Amino acid sequence: MASTSSFHASIAVPHRSRTGSERTSLGACCSARIDSQFAPVTLKCGRTGGGRRAGSAVVVKAVVAVEDYVSGASSLGEITKGDFPILDQEVHGYKLVYLDNAATSQKPASVLKALRDYYEGYNANVHRGVHALSAKATDEYELARKKVADFINSPSDRDVVFTRNASEAINLVAYTWGLTNLKEGDEIVLSVAEHHSNLVPWQLVSQKTGAVLRFVDLTSEETLDLEQLKGLLNERTKLVSTFHVSNVLGCINPIADIVEWAHAVGAKVLVDACQSVPHMAVDVQALGADFLVASSHKMCGPTGMGFLWGKSEILESMPPFLGGGEMIVDVFLDRSTYASPPSRFEAGTPAIGEAIGLGAAVDYLNRIGMDRIHEYEVLPLNI
Ligand SMILES: Cc1ncc(COP(=O)(O)O)c(C=O)c1O
Repeated sequence: MASTSSFHASIAVPHRSRTGSERTSLGACCSARIDSQFAPVTLKCGRTGGGRRAGSAVVVKAVVAVEDYVSGASSLGEITKGDFPILDQEVHGYKLVYLDNAATSQKPASVLKALRDYYEGYNANVHRGVHALSAKATDEYELARKKVADFINSPSDRDVVFTRNASEAINLVAYTWGLTNLKEGDEIVLSVAEHHSNLVPWQLVSQKTGAVLRFVDLTSEETLDLEQLKGLLNERTKLVSTFHVSNVLGCINPIADIVEWAHAVGAKVLVDACQSVPHMAVDVQALGADFLVASSHKMCGPTGMGFLWGKSEILESMPPFLGGGEMIVDVFLDRSTYASPPSRFEAGTPAIGEAIGLGAAVDYLNRIGMDRIHEYEVLPLNI
């Protein structure tokens, strides 16, 4: 089987393909001028592999945006530019150009302030102190969880587990749900366009359990071959794990449909939402999936922070991932009992400031509005 690439697209600008389905245009090799995360751009795009149409769509988008810019119309980029202190500098004698948002986004001042407020004002451990700073840190940490839960329309904030990043969230599912529920001959359905983070953990799990990996190819339109996916599903399928928005192609998977087909054969669905959560409204209840993962650093939040969302009854059924403080109820010398989710999966001192920073990033995205961001990034083009 050919090796897969996980190169990052520089910007995420969805457009509509010839078939009318939405796609996020992700130019991998661009020389460009951009003013902020949501800024108008002028660019020449080439790709490091595949997706020529996606590249040209970015150029069309750029021309439209730049005309608005020149005519003085305020774009979302113009409005938000000043929020990002890092952009106020020159690199190699030119005003900083930053297009690598799919790899990691820049951070607005409000997120930097939230981090600073925590470390300067109430740095303390969470869930284990009775003093004022610890109480405040715990409240803010749990408030951040609530913000993330509301952001993705989770029925409960207890269904949101903080992790280091999306990769860790997928590994958590692989090593807890996967090792417990998969056996020889079971099948895991992935696509050939998954990020390595949504491939390698399943390779490891299949090596340990004997479960078999099945792969969905792409159509000539560079979208997932949904007919092939449907054909791969059968009573042996235990999991479908795929992206919501592809970091390579920009195509948007019809997750609700995939969930319906997968659930019809009794399989669970994990959604890699790394590239959708920062760019469009994501509603876990509407999608109907069993797990969803994302990374804070791609959504204007700090690094070292991500989350796993899971259906409460499934999280409840899963054994711990890592052992340590916070994830236990009682500890004896020879055994322990475990806390309920999400604490069960958050062993040790978490990234407290970073969680609070993620909460501030969610506030920032909400202030702009996810529909507005998506609208700005999607043009009703029939290219
Ligand atoms: C689609 C997708 N999934 C997963 C990941 C992994 O994210 P992280 O490195 O933050 O764990 C990325 C990162 O680029 C991604 O684009």
